[in-house]
Amino acid sequence: MIKTKICELLGIEYPVLQGGMAWIADGELAAAVSNAGGLGIIAGGNRSADELRKEIRKCKDLTDKPFGVNIMLMMPNAEEIIQVCLDEKVPVVTTGAGNPGKYIPAFKEKGIKVIPVVASDALAKRMERIGCDAVIAEGMEAGGHIGKLTTMVLIPAIVKAVSIPVIAAGGIALGEQAAAAFALGAEGIQMGTRFLAAKECNVHPKYKEKILKARFNQVTVTGLTTGHPVRLIENKLTKKFEELEFSGAPKEQLEELGRGRLRLAAEQGDIEWGSVMVGQVVGYVNKEETVEEIIKDIMEGAERTLKALCDRFGK
Ligand SMILES: Cc1cc2nc3c(=O)[nH]c(=O)nc-3n(C[C@H](O)[C@H](O)[C@H](O)COP(=O)(O)O)c2cc1C
Repeated sequence: MIKTKICELLGIEYPVLQGGMAWIADGELAAAVSNAGGLGIIAGGNRSADELRKEIRKCKDLTDKPFGVNIMLMMPNAEEIIQVCLDEKVPVVTTGAGNPGKYIPAFKEKGIKVIPVVASDALAKRMERIGCDAVIAEGMEAGGHIGKLTTMVLIPAIVKAVSIPVIAAGGIALGEQAAAAFALGAEGIQMGTRFLAAKECNVHPKYKEKILKARFNQVTVTGLTTGHPVRLIENKLTKKFEELEFSGAPKEQLEELGRGRLRLAAEQGDIEWGSVMVGQVVGYVNKEETVEEIIKDIMEGAERTLKALCDRFGK
């Protein structure tokens, strides 16, 4: 079985992380992933401090394995969310949308590993310099908010730029893609879209059904003109967004239209006017499985692919 520096660093069996997903990734999903040997991550981006504490405690009740919390640093309550992570001594935090620098000493003091999500080699270098333990390099194939570079281009650039371990995210749902990420120098992978279809994922059933039926060409990107691009499935909302976006509507109007839309889809199941965020890999995700089946499939597939490559090209 493939073992990497990430397994060692995080104390996990398989180098597979379940990405934090706002309004979706709860204590139950995170615990299931951690129990299956990966690293489950609770989304902190959309919760109050009390709600997050509840999810962390639920996760602790369901697993004794390491797990993480995703912190969106630009949220108005980020400081409170960080305090909960410190109080609860969560084993790992992943961070996005900001610089975790000033909180690193406090995290270190509690033995909490800090892993920011980055979309450029320059940012990865800065994160290494301030003392982060690893980085998640997320390519623009990913679901949700995206950067500019593809995983294929981004991973080797970041692997060359830093000496801390790199976890590849964006566009990974098959064993072959995981093997490609390892070939590019990644020490682990993070998946979001494939875990959305897990049995243990409590996203609204209509959202899950939409994912299982979606084809590759139904995935689109909104917000290209506002500087906040989001990858999601085409629906009435994306059509309205495009109409406004390309008729020169002011940025504020577009931002207003986008507000609260992920929650609308993920919690209330409005898949026409809600934001059904998914990655490009959605066309590969067509059955509901347990997280254990997903992790087994991806790791066995990666191993099979790497062995087949050795048989093909090795001497
Ligand atoms: C519905 C959805 C919500 C997401 N929310 C967050 C989030 O709150 N914070 C974050 O750092 N990443 C978020 N992501 C990104 C994932 O954590 C992960 O990195 C990404 O989905 C990986 O790409 P993939 O979708 O191709 O597997 C989200 C992704 C999706 C699909």
